[in-house]
Amino acid sequence: MAFHGYSAFSALIIKPLCLLLSYAVALSVHAYIPSTLDGPFQPVTVPFDASLRGNAVDLPDTDPRVRRSVKGFEPEQISVSLSFSYDSVWISWITGEFQIGYNIKPLDPKQVASIVHFGGLRYPLSHEAKGYSLVYNQLYPFEGLQNYTSGIIHHVRLTETPIHETYQPRWDYWGRYMQQLVSQVPIMVVEGNHEIEEQAGNQTFVAYSSRFAFPSIESGSSSTFYYSFDAGGIHFVMLGAYIDYEKSGDQYKWLEKDLANVNRDLTPWLIVSWHPPWYSSYSAHYREAECMRVAMEELLYSYGVDIVFNGHVHAYERSNRVYNYKLDPCGPVYITVGDGGNREKMAIEHADEPGHCPEPSSTPDPYMGGFCAENFTTGPAAGKFCWDQQPDYSAFRESSFGHGILEVKNESWALWTWHRNQDSSSKIADQIYIVRQPHKCPFRCHAHTLTQHRYADI
Ligand SMILES: [Fe+2]
Repeated sequence: MAFHGYSAFSALIIKPLCLLLSYAVALSVHAYIPSTLDGPFQPVTVPFDASLRGNAVDLPDTDPRVRRSVKGFEPEQISVSLSFSYDSVWISWITGEFQIGYNIKPLDPKQVASIVHFGGLRYPLSHEAKGYSLVYNQLYPFEGLQNYTSGIIHHVRLTETPIHETYQPRWDYWGRYMQQLVSQVPIMVVEGNHEIEEQAGNQTFVAYSSRFAFPSIESGSSSTFYYSFDAGGIHFVMLGAYIDYEKSGDQYKWLEKDLANVNRDLTPWLIVSWHPPWYSSYSAHYREAECMRVAMEELLYSYGVDIVFNGHVHAYERSNRVYNYKLDPCGPVYITVGDGGNREKMAIEHADEPGHCPEPSSTPDPYMGGFCAENFTTGPAAGKFCWDQQPDYSAFRESSFGHGILEVKNESWALWTWHRNQDSSSKIADQIYIVRQPHKCPFRCHAHTLTQHRYADI
């Protein structure tokens, strides 16, 4: 395998400027792109296009893109993940076929070595790195369901380089389908509710924790559920919403330490990601992660987090800068992009529409625990569980499957662009410059010393 690390890392974050501007693109150069400095914006809802199917459909397991295309113990489902430093990556792959049935014998993970030969672009593959291998099992605690045992999963860390839930075969189909992309561009994952995959012995998240490589140890974390890494001038923090997030817990303590150690001269941008959104105005999963917000929001705010990315809600929504439900020029921009596609329905209903406000006691997720969603005490939603109009924190929302690209332009400007999947790729559905203002929002203060002075000169 040969890697040219710098281009691999930059591909994750920075879309190189294209010199061959088409006529259409040239036209768009002159269009005004708003920035967060122009905000807060009046809330916008794009009406749902009823001609859309509204749910994605799984590829059948006979589709060549999900079928096994290698023989014997040849590697497949190859993927790259970042490690902690700019010059190290994890390479993961699978050898041997999974088995599914009632009496199955797992493969011996030692049967195939975990070795990667690598070198610089156009240089011989003169370096060698060794890693480890494992198999995992999905044993169902129910009668009538066939058990699963994976192929041999390999993870090898290269340093100094130039650079349907529970139905386990679906993971292999996905690994094959994604290989063309994720073997060239690093993929960084964080667990969601679909990865819980409860099985016998109360085990959870086994496929998630087994199949991917995480820079956990490199970032001082003892868990696959939360970790951090740097790329392209950004310090990324990945958080776990389905494990302990309370102030007394290991994750919170790790987060405090991680945020305190960020060097904003090297990585001025601070981006945090986890699965269920705190700021979402759709009825689906409305205020579901409220206990996590109550526990962690102040800490993230005190360190000047710039952007938060979430999934979970199958639609798109971008917030104004917000903190504790109040518009705040120093709060993060929250972007929910749980719109990658899902066979479940797209989220279409808004909690602020008549009849669509969920019953509060129905909103907590049993895997997250607790109920913290008090009624709003101030603002237009005072005394109510839901707003009666699109909340002021919600700048833009649209029910469509889609995807986004973040282009970091420099230490204070980044361009966020969201595309609908059904449109041509050149069509922009939402676009905004997110602008950092560290001089107006001092961020190197600890949560406990956070004072009102952040608001004073704004
Ligand atoms: Fe989810």
